[in-house]
Amino acid sequence: MKTTFVPKALLSFFLLLSFWVSAQKSDRELILIDKDWRFSFGHLYDTKKDFGHAEGYFSYLTKTGFGDGSAAKDFDDRAWRKLDLPHDWAVEQPFSESASFSHGFKAAGKNYPEKSIGWYRKKINILESDLGKVISIKFDGVFRNSKVFFNGFYLGTEQSGYNGFEYDVTAYVNYGGENTIVVRADASMEEGWFYEGAGIYRHVYLQKTNPIYVKENGTYVTSELKNNDAEITAEVSIENKGNSKGNLEIIQTIFDASNKQITTNSEKVSAPEFYKTANFTSKLSVKNPLLWDIDTPNLYRLVTQIQQNGKIIDSYETIFGIRTIKFDPENGFFLNGKPLKLKGTNNHQDHAGIGTALPDEIQYYRIKKLKEMGSNAYRCSHHPPTPELLKACDELGMLVIDETRLMGINDYHLNDLQRMMERDRNHPSVFCWSVGNEEWNIEGGIVGERVTNVMQNFAKSIDSTRPVTVGISSGFKSGISSAVEIMGYNYLGNGDIDAHRNQFKNQPGMGTEEGSTFATRGIYFTDDAKHYQSAYDKKPRPTFYSIEEGWKFYAGRPYLAGMFIWTGFDYRGEPTPYGWPSVTSYFGMMDVCGFPKDNVFYLKSWWGKEPVLHLLPHWNWIGMEGTAIDVWAYSNCDEVELFLNKKSLGKKKMEKNGHLEWKVNYAPGTLEAVGYKNGKKVLTETQKTTAKAENIKLSLDKENVVKGNVSVVTVEVTDKNGLHVPTANDEIEFAIKGGKILGVGNGDPTSLESDKFIDNIDLVAINNFKEQKVNTAVLPQQLLNYSENEWVEAFKDRDYKKQAASYIYKGEFDLKNKSASNIVSFFYKKIGVETVVFINGNKVEPSAEDAQKYTFNTAILKEGKNTIHIAATPLQKIKDWDVMNTDPGIIQVITPAEPWKRKLFNGYAQIIIQKDENAKEVVFSASAKGLRTTTLSLK
Ligand code: GAL
Repeated sequence: MKTTFVPKALLSFFLLLSFWVSAQKSDRELILIDKDWRFSFGHLYDTKKDFGHAEGYFSYLTKTGFGDGSAAKDFDDRAWRKLDLPHDWAVEQPFSESASFSHGFKAAGKNYPEKSIGWYRKKINILESDLGKVISIKFDGVFRNSKVFFNGFYLGTEQSGYNGFEYDVTAYVNYGGENTIVVRADASMEEGWFYEGAGIYRHVYLQKTNPIYVKENGTYVTSELKNNDAEITAEVSIENKGNSKGNLEIIQTIFDASNKQITTNSEKVSAPEFYKTANFTSKLSVKNPLLWDIDTPNLYRLVTQIQQNGKIIDSYETIFGIRTIKFDPENGFFLNGKPLKLKGTNNHQDHAGIGTALPDEIQYYRIKKLKEMGSNAYRCSHHPPTPELLKACDELGMLVIDETRLMGINDYHLNDLQRMMERDRNHPSVFCWSVGNEEWNIEGGIVGERVTNVMQNFAKSIDSTRPVTVGISSGFKSGISSAVEIMGYNYLGNGDIDAHRNQFKNQPGMGTEEGSTFATRGIYFTDDAKHYQSAYDKKPRPTFYSIEEGWKFYAGRPYLAGMFIWTGFDYRGEPTPYGWPSVTSYFGMMDVCGFPKDNVFYLKSWWGKEPVLHLLPHWNWIGMEGTAIDVWAYSNCDEVELFLNKKSLGKKKMEKNGHLEWKVNYAPGTLEAVGYKNGKKVLTETQKTTAKAENIKLSLDKENVVKGNVSVVTVEVTDKNGLHVPTANDEIEFAIKGGKILGVGNGDPTSLESDKFIDNIDLVAINNFKEQKVNTAVLPQQLLNYSENEWVEAFKDRDYKKQAASYIYKGEFDLKNKSASNIVSFFYKKIGVETVVFINGNKVEPSAEDAQKYTFNTAILKEGKNTIHIAATPLQKIKDWDVMNTDPGIIQVITPAEPWKRKLFNGYAQIIIQKDENAKEVVFSASAKGLRTTTLSLK
C-alpha cells in the first residue's frame, strides 16, 4: 500500500482551510415566511364575492402583471383576518350533516361555495442588495388548486394539494421595498376520500440564491457499502440563471451528526449555459460509517458548495443516511443485512384540533407515539407527506412507504411522482415507493398491468435504490399484481395471499393494509344508537380480520415482509361503520389525539421490546354488579394471573401473539393482573373502581416543549385518591397567557364541538353608494339635511375636469346583530383629500394607529340597515389615464370568540398550545363546574 506523508502542520492547515471553506457564507438564504398573512374567504362562482377577481377587462391571463381583484398588488386587505401559517380553514368550520362524509362533515368544500375559496396575502420586504440574486417563493403544499401571484404577476397553478412547488419571482421583485404574495386556494374539489384540510396548511419560504445555484431538490445521495466502508455517490444539479460563464468548483463535503467533517471532494467544472442545468457527480468515501437504523437513526450531512473565483456562491445541505435495504421473496425485508419484520401503520395527515395544519412538533409527537407502540414503519396513505414528517421519521428511526396520489401515465401523474421522488429520495427513512392504492378500475386487468409497468420503470429511472409497490385490493391474481415489484396486499379478506405467493415465488410481498377494525377509545360495549364501537379487538366485518388475526397471519409467514395496519391514528372522515353524526374514523389504534385504544397494548406486547401487561376494561361499572364482564389481558409475559379484590380468578398461559380472557362478575374494587416470566412475577397491573371526579389534572408532553414552541397538554380528571376517572365527560374551560391555544380535541368520533375558538370576521359591503355636489370646500362637522331627490349614483359619469368643491356621499350597510361585544370598524379607502365620516348621523373619528380606519362605538349602530355619510373634497385626476378609486371601503365586524372549552371523552381531552415567541412563561389553566381549577406554568 502506498502512503503519502503529509507533515502535521500542513495537515492542520488543510483542515483549517476546509473548515473555513465550509463556514463561508454563501448567497443562499431560506427564510420561513409563515407569519403575518392576511386571509379572507372568496367565492367559488360569485365573482363579486371573490373580490372581482378574474373579471377585469384585462385580467391576469390577458396582460402580465394584471392580477385583478384581490390578486392585485395594492388591493386593500386591511380588513382581512391576520393569521400565521400553517392554516387549515376547514377545521375552523362547524360540522354539518350536508357536508362531505369523507371529509369529516366539516362545512367547507364543494357544497359550501362561500367556504371553498381561500385568499391569502402577505407583504414582504426584499433588500436592494438582493438585486442580482435569484428570488423564489417555495411552498411545501397548499390544498388545493392554488394560483399564486407576486406583485400582481401570475406565477402559476398547482393543482395537487400534496406537491411542494416553487416559483421564481426574480424579475418581478420591487428591490429595496415592499412586495406582495397572493395565493388563491380552491378546495372545492376533493382529491381523496379522507379529510384533506383546506388552504396553506404547510410551510412557505422565501429563498434567495446566487444565479448559479443547486436546483431545488437538486442533489441525490446514494451509498454502497463495501466491507466496512461506504462509497457515497453525490449527484448534484446546478442551474445557471445568470450570464456569468467560466469555471466553477464543486466542493462536496460530508459531516457526521456531531458536525465533524468526514470527507470532502472538489472538482473543477464549467458553468452551465444560461438557463441550462448540468449534473455533476462526486464520489466520497465514509470509513466505518454509522448506519441509519430504526434504533440508531444515524444521519450525515452533505454540504454541496459552488465556488466561483475563490468565492463560495452557493451552499446546499442534504441530510442523508447510510443503510442497506433488501426485500427477499423467501425471507422478507432486511435492513442493514438483518431481517426486520415491518410493523407498520397507515396514516393520513390530520390531527385533533388542528386538522392538516400540523406544527412540526406534532409530527414528532405522532411518530414518537407510533414508535412507543412498537411500530417501525409508516405508510403515507395515500399522498406525498409534508417534508417535516419525513424529517421526523429520519431523526426518530421510522421506515416510510412514500406514496403518490393517482395512478396514470400522463404528465399529471408522472410529474407528481417525479416531484415526490426527487424531493424525498435522500431520506434514509424512505424504503419503498408506492405508485398507487386500490385503483379498482384497473387493478385486476391489463390496463393496471400496463400503467404499473410504466410508473414502475419511470420510478426506477429516478431512483433505482428502492423498490416499488402498489396497494392492491380486488383479488391478487392478475393486473397490477402481475407487474408490481413488491406485492402490496390490502387485506387478507380480499384474496388468497398464499395462493398468490405460490404462483409468483420470486415476488416479495407485504400487507400494505390490514385491520380496518372499529373501536371507540374507552368504550367496552358496542352501541349502534350512540355510534359506539367496543374497544375489544374483533373482526369488524365478514371479510375483514381483527388486529390479532392479521398479525398472526403476517408474523407466521417469513416470506411476507410485514404488515401495515389501517390505521395508526383515527382521522377525520370515513366514520365507517357509521355516518353522521360520527365525524372521524374508528380504525385507529389511537384516537385522533393519539390517546391509545386498548389495541395499542396488544401491539406493544408483540411489536415492542419492553415487558407489557395491560388490562381491559376499566372497572367503573356502577349498576352492573354481578354481571359477567369480559376481562382481557394484553401482555408478553408467559403467564398472567387475575385477581378481583385479592381473590384469584386463575392463572393463564399466554399464547404467542395472543391475549388472555376471563369472564368476571362485576364487583367494585380492584381488578389486578400479575404477569410472570420464567415463573417469576415481573409485572402487575390494576384497574380500580374510582370515586367521582374532583380534580383536573394537566400534563405536558415535555419532550416536545424542549424542541419548539408547540406542545401537547393532556387533560384528565382524578378522584379524591388521585385515580384517573375513565368515564368522566366533564366540560373543561381553558385560558392561556403567554401563548395561544391552537386546537382542542378528545377523540370522540361523534363530538360536534368546535375544534377552534377564533374570532369571526365578517366583511360587510357598503351598498347603494350615492353622492351630491356641495359648493363649499369647508366640510360639515355635523350631518346636515340634504335634499332626498338630489342623490345620484356616486362617481357615475363624473367629469373630473369640472368637479364640485366637495361632495357628500351616502351609503348603507347591514348588520346582522348589534352585540355590544362586537368590534365594528370601517376601513376607508381614499375617495377624497379631506374627509369627515358620519355613521347613522354621528360623526366618527379615525383611529390613532390608522388614519383610514374608524372603529365605532357600538351604541351608535343598529341591527339591520345602517347609514354612512362621507363628506369629502375630491381627489384630482392628474393624467387622463389615471384610474380613480370609487370604492369607499368596507365594514369589518369582529365577533370575539367564546372561551376555549372541550368535554372530556372517557376521561381525556387534549389541548395543543403554542408559546408566544418572546414570552418568558406560559400559564395555562383549566376549570370546570364542580372541579378544582388547575394551572400549569411553563417557563
Ligand atoms: C381501504 C382504503 C383506505 C381506507 C380503508 C377503510 O380500502 O385503501 O384508504 O378507505 O379501506 O377500510
